[in-house]
Amino acid sequence: MTQHDSHAGTALVVVAHHRTDSLTAHTARRAAVRLEAAGYRIDLLDLHAEGFDPRMNTSDQPDWSNREKAYSGEVHAHMQRILDADVVVAVFPVYWQNVPAILKGWIDRVWNYGFAYGRSKPRLAGKRMLWLGLAGATADDPIVEGMQTVLEANLSEGIAYYCGFSHSAVGLLTDAEERPQRVDTEGNLRVGEAVTGAEREAQYADLDRRAREFVERFVAGALVAA
Ligand SMILES: Cc1cc2nc3c(=O)[nH]c(=O)nc-3n(C[C@H](O)[C@H](O)[C@H](O)COP(=O)(O)O)c2cc1C
Repeated sequence: MTQHDSHAGTALVVVAHHRTDSLTAHTARRAAVRLEAAGYRIDLLDLHAEGFDPRMNTSDQPDWSNREKAYSGEVHAHMQRILDADVVVAVFPVYWQNVPAILKGWIDRVWNYGFAYGRSKPRLAGKRMLWLGLAGATADDPIVEGMQTVLEANLSEGIAYYCGFSHSAVGLLTDAEERPQRVDTEGNLRVGEAVTGAEREAQYADLDRRAREFVERFVAGALVAA
């Protein structure tokens, strides 16, 4: 967490990856730097490093007859971090056209009834959200169009807007694997030759550029759909 003053507010950057040397973690760090440069105070939430348990439990299960239910202390601490944020940026590898389990569990447990939804005046109203998903599929894979659609339906419509966010966008970063992946017409996953050397460096640089564009367009309020 950085301490200096800012004008833009606080950005909660949520990282969902088990390796700190992953492309996902790298992309999250770069996103945080861009957001900081844009004037945001950064609250970096590395779900794995903080040992977040994504499993639902009885303390954090909603009670539909009591929207004032006191959830666990861990969940209340996470709720406070969301309340303190003006924007939330989640950075994650796309797993099965969705967010990985640890991020899904964070939403399941923390974005809870009476806090994130279920009130006539939503507490999260007006906040803005960017979902930055890294995908192994190559940009020319026909599966990508459906992936974008399903992620937007799920994450923007089904979660962020449902919880009163004023803006939500999905930035899908394809070609995140060093061995290009593509599903062929018969449904088989075709894994190509590993990209190495200068070509690999160019691939990294291109992913960094696309990620940066998503973040800058989001900051400028111009990222509607990818
Ligand atoms: C369980 C699992 C499911 C995956 N599902 C998808 C998928 O649905 N679409 C896709 O393009 N890539 C998929 N991938 C590939 C990951 O998106 C890719 O490995 C990751 O973004 C690479 O980033 P990283 O090096 O930070 O892990 C999957 C990978 C795993 C391990």
